Amino acid sequence: MKSFENFEYFTPTKVIFGKNAEQEIGTLIKTFGAKKVLIHYGGGSVIKSGLLDRVCASLTEAGIAYITLGGVVPNPRLSKVYEGIDLCRREQADFILAIGGGSVIDSAKAIGYGVANDGDVWDFYEKKRTASACLPIGAILTIAAAGSEMSNSSVITNENGWLKRGYSNNLSRCKFAIMNPELTYTLPDYQTQSGCVDIMMHTLERYLNQSGNMEMTDGISEALLRTVMKNAKILKTDPNNYEARAEVMWAGSLSHNGLTGCGTDGGDWASHQLEHELGGMFDVAHGAGLAAVWGSWARYVFHDRIDRFAKLAANVLMLTPTDDPTQNALAGIEAMEAHFHSVGMPTSIHDLGIDLSEEQIMTLADKCSFGRTRTIGIVRKLDTEDIANIYRMAK
Ligand code: NZQ
Ligand code: ZN
Repeated sequence: MKSFENFEYFTPTKVIFGKNAEQEIGTLIKTFGAKKVLIHYGGGSVIKSGLLDRVCASLTEAGIAYITLGGVVPNPRLSKVYEGIDLCRREQADFILAIGGGSVIDSAKAIGYGVANDGDVWDFYEKKRTASACLPIGAILTIAAAGSEMSNSSVITNENGWLKRGYSNNLSRCKFAIMNPELTYTLPDYQTQSGCVDIMMHTLERYLNQSGNMEMTDGISEALLRTVMKNAKILKTDPNNYEARAEVMWAGSLSHNGLTGCGTDGGDWASHQLEHELGGMFDVAHGAGLAAVWGSWARYVFHDRIDRFAKLAANVLMLTPTDDPTQNALAGIEAMEAHFHSVGMPTSIHDLGIDLSEEQIMTLADKCSFGRTRTIGIVRKLDTEDIANIYRMAK
């Protein structure tokens, strides 16, 4: 077991954080040399809130031409990406401004790859080849969750087979991310809480690893997890609490920009892989899907890393350790699930409103193992049978 592995930490995104941060978007985008911008957005929340109109007005005032493409859905679809690529090429757009959450930003990244490279953009998500360029992208974030505003990844769902696949490449990192916590006041509670779970998971996936001791990175991770849990509870009853929105929003970016993985082996990521198949097949909210499978995954693998699960219990769930590490680890898993429950998040797939048949479990396991060609996870390497067992436990 190695501690403090070598690492690269690359966060080129300019962050503009706080009240009214989006006000000068026209002037800002000009500094990045944009001549014609594709404004990309989702199902309508930005129209309803008036944000889209304000952004368009700011671009017009700064003398920047733009076109718009809305309609990105959660678990963003490849067909919308193709539409965006065609539109950008036709209109010669040279910058993409994503206004929304992970789905819109991920769709923008995929369009960016598609415009800047020849051939089918899906090849990158199937890991058939590597992108050599990407259109520049900026984001105005409206939900704290996926961390795409500072991450190097993009997750797209191909309707042909309902395959949800990710592609990571530093080329797509946002040039800037505008984060005004007030823009998240209009979120439905379920999306707020689902986002908080996702933020926690991006750090948990890295924290539960097979690395040795890392005081600095572990300390940052533990503080981040405690902060998100505390503020998720505040937002449950006080959704317009600026400080709580701000804490969660900043945690969302730090949780997935690589910071909480520095010096680790990269982390586990099995829960994410398990969720991606649920998201692809059943279109569930990503964070809620993670909450539904995490406890079952943890109980399946914790024996392989009892010390770290026990550390989580003591330093994040603040449980007093007993002499029995197994009991400590299990108590931590239970406390984490109790937290999910307390904020209205699921802890089983049934809680998501899905009752899986045995056939569906095997289909999910087959897809998750890429047709039995790969294992997932690092705490314990999980093959197709393990994956099916976890879906059964999470049922
Ligand atoms: O489409 P609109 O109308 O905007 O509604 C959205 C959507 O229904 C709504 N919403 C967003 N901001 C709002 C708002 N409603 C009211 N007021 C606001 N201010 O929230 C819903 C969810 O939006 P979405 O963008 O899907 O949320 P999230 O940020 O959780 O993104 C989830 C996607 O990101 C992927 C997930 O798999 C999923 O597809 N991920 C991306 C990652 C990355 N690129 O680094 C990492 C993550 O692990 C994750 O896999
Ligand atoms: Zn996630």
